[in-house]
Formats: sequence, C-alpha cells, structure tokens
Amino acid sequence: MSSTAKIAFIGAGNMASSIIGGLIANGYNKGAIIACDPNPSALENLSSSFGIATSTDNTAAVKQATIVVLAVKPQVMQAVCEPLASNLGDNSLVISIAAGIACSSLNLWLGGANKALALVRCMPNTPALVQAGASALFANQQVSEQQKQQAEDILKAVGIVDWVNDEQHMDAVTAVSGSGPAYFFLMIEAMVAAGVKQGLSSETAAALAKQTAFGAAKLALQSDVDVDELRRRVTSPNGTTAAALASFENNQFTTVVEAAMQACAERSKELAKELG
Ligand SMILES: NC(=O)c1ccc[n+]([C@@H]2O[C@H](COP(=O)([O-])OP(=O)(O)OC[C@H]3O[C@@H](n4cnc5c(N)ncnc54)[C@H](OP(=O)(O)O)[C@@H]3O)[C@@H](O)[C@H]2O)c1
Repeated sequence: MSSTAKIAFIGAGNMASSIIGGLIANGYNKGAIIACDPNPSALENLSSSFGIATSTDNTAAVKQATIVVLAVKPQVMQAVCEPLASNLGDNSLVISIAAGIACSSLNLWLGGANKALALVRCMPNTPALVQAGASALFANQQVSEQQKQQAEDILKAVGIVDWVNDEQHMDAVTAVSGSGPAYFFLMIEAMVAAGVKQGLSSETAAALAKQTAFGAAKLALQSDVDVDELRRRVTSPNGTTAAALASFENNQFTTVVEAAMQACAERSKELAKELG
C-alpha cells in the first residue's frame, strides 16, 4: 500500500492503537496518520509511542483524510458520525470496525439518503491486540478495487484478512472469529480447572493449557493437512486421547458448539437492529 494515504482514526482506544502500531511497524508513514479521541491520555500515549499526530477535533482530521477509520464503540457511532457528514471528502473511504453497525446506517449518518459513500465494514477480534487478529471485511458497491486493497492492507497490520461478499455474513463472522477468542478462553479455563481437580497446581495447569492451545493453533496453521487429520493423528485407537474425544462426543460437543454459535449470530442480528 502507498504509505502516504492520509488516515484519520476516530477513536483511539485499544483497537485503533493496535492497528496504528501495526501500520507503523510495517513502515507506514507516521506523518500520514492522525488519531482523534476526547481522552487526552489516550492521545498522549499514541503520540509518544508512535510519533503520530493526534487531535480532539474529529471534523478537522476527517477533512484532511482520504481514509477514515471509525474505531469508537457502536453505542456512540451515530453521535460521532453525524458531525462528520459535511467534512468527508468526495472520494474518501470510510472503514468501520464497530460490531453490529450496518453500512446502511453508516451511510445515512455520514451522507444522508441521497449520497452513496464508499464504506468498508470490518469485524476484527481481540488477538489483533497482539498482531494475531482475524478480520473479515465487507465492501459496499461504491468501494473501488484500490480502496479495497487499502482497507485490506490496513487490517493486515494486525493479522489475517478475509472478505465476505454479503453483509449478512457478518453475523456468521461474529460467531466464528469476532466472539471466537472467548470460546477458546473458556476452553482453557475449563482445562485448567479440570487439571487442578486432578492435582496440578493452577500455575502448571495454566502454563500447559495455554501453550497447548497456542501450539495446536500454530500446528493447524502451518500443517499441510486438515485439522480433522491432525486430530486423527494424535488419537491412537483405544488410547488416552480417544477416551477424551469419546467423552466429548457423548456429551454432544459438536451440538453444543453449533448452538452457541447460533446464539451468537442471533444476538448479532438483534444488536444490529437496536444500534441501527
Ligand atoms: N476490542 C475488540 O476485540 C473488538 C473486536 C471487534 C470489534 N471491535 C470494535 O472496535 C471498536 C473499538 O473498540 P475498542 O476495544 O478499541 O474500544 P475502546 O478501547 O473503548 O476505544 C474507543 C475509543 O473511542 C473514544 N471515543 C468516544 N467518543 C468519541 C468521540 N466522540 N470521538 C472520538 N473518539 C471517541 C473512546 O474514548 P472514551 O474512552 O473517553 O469514551 C475510546 O478511547 C468498537 O466499535 C468495537 O465494537 C472491537
């Protein structure tokens, strides 16, 4: 990506800081990034860590930018967007990382009913905080190929990026990767608790469970075979792993996961209605 396209981050919290950190680490021009937030200490941290410009004036920053990244909480998005409407450049790209806010709502708040803006909606996840995120992106029809590439390059600063071509699929994305980290945290918690019940110290159980989750994910990512084959390879007939997996299946593990992800996607749809 050209590292000179001017990017304004509106909201300078956890997610924006991570993306900015990733961009700078990848050689993006510091002089082309500005971060806006009402919180002076968040801005001071960013300018001292990354040497970027900061401001409490969203509208002034948006006027100068060709790419605007909306990184505020969904609940304040409408109030944040409306004052920006008359300050967006005609060819600006707007990227929203807020959960549950539809492109149609963003377009209405930022452009009104008669203007079609170039909008990319993104669902990142918390491992973005350690540059190991998984983000899914959706672009509306106004987004050019060049702008799609720019959006992709920005989110790639904090992990992998994939595109969905139907905005409705953002609910399924939320169920897989948006909320997904919490499922793995729950699994680790449960494994630590069970290890402690079997006599391990909580420190040992936690260290082993976390590294096992990390190692399994790394192996799955780097291996040239599918995860079901990796699972079969560690499951000797009548062995210890086979006993554990049989217990999972007897307790409807797959059904439990499917129901949890269904509940997640339903809640995502409800929230989109409430917030839009
Ligand atoms: N964290 C995640 O894992 C994750 C995952 C997927 C999606 N997201 C989305 O990413 C977005 C940001 O999340 P986050 O975790 O980075 O939240 P965050 O740390 O709370 O950051 C949001 C920032 O926006 C600031 N803000 C509030 N009103 C503003 C305004 N009028 N103008 C400019 N900035 C304003 C907040 O300041 P104050 O604190 O002073 O209010 C805060 O510093 C959310 O929409 C969330 O849905 C996050």
